[in-house]
Amino acid sequence: MEISVQDYARECAEQGLRGDYLACRSDFTVEQSYDYDDAQQRVWRLLCDRQTELTQRLAHKSYLDGVEALGLLERIPDFDEVSDKLRARTGWELVAVPGLIPAQPFFDHLANRRFPVTNWLRHEDELDYIVEPDMFHDFFGHVPILTQPQFADFMQMYGARAGDAIALGGDEMITRLYWYTSEFGLIQEPGGPMKAFGAGLMSSYSELKFAVESADAHRVPFDIETVMRTGYEIDKFQRAYFVLPSFEALSEAFSALDLEALVKRWKDAEPLDPATV
Ligand SMILES: [Fe+2]
Repeated sequence: MEISVQDYARECAEQGLRGDYLACRSDFTVEQSYDYDDAQQRVWRLLCDRQTELTQRLAHKSYLDGVEALGLLERIPDFDEVSDKLRARTGWELVAVPGLIPAQPFFDHLANRRFPVTNWLRHEDELDYIVEPDMFHDFFGHVPILTQPQFADFMQMYGARAGDAIALGGDEMITRLYWYTSEFGLIQEPGGPMKAFGAGLMSSYSELKFAVESADAHRVPFDIETVMRTGYEIDKFQRAYFVLPSFEALSEAFSALDLEALVKRWKDAEPLDPATV
């Protein structure tokens, strides 16, 4: 069922979410309104400087190439400027949102190669952790890898097919696929080093190091059916990280997937325990 902007704004206010949801258009986008003050620009640079020390070593090359191509590190990015650069590479663009938006409009944006980015930034006393995704998570985490062509295709396909999965009762299964790829995905190409590309890792100082380097991290070869059956928790380090052999493998596995058969087979089953998967 579609939710109206007014009803969603009311729910968000009750939950104490920060964004100005009453300013939303019917597709839940807002103006970016580029009026960030010096303190906010300083927080952006602090976050980027600190995280870039790690991403230089631990992020996949296509993520780093994306950062370079889009130019995100000096100041809070102007969404329209970045959209022009992104459009030229993979046909994606950015839209500003006040924070988390309902699933259906989120999927509609992805299906049309529009990535929703929160238009506000965390405060200086929240450098390490914030409950809601903010602009740093959305931008620094998600946007650079949208310059990678196969991953960009996967994200569009995800938006186009997620609604079907939900209609079949597979909402948890389809969310796990996003979680273990777009948020916490690792990649190790044949003969290459372990690298990260998921946004939850890119925007977390401590978990990025843990996921890529720690002997205690549980890294599992990517298998799309296993991913969609594996549970997860949102407020601790992941107990499993799935490792892609390439971005092609992800887009090929998803486009070849018989989503309906898979959802029907597993939607009512107990999720697999990530610790033992
Ligand atoms: Fe995210």
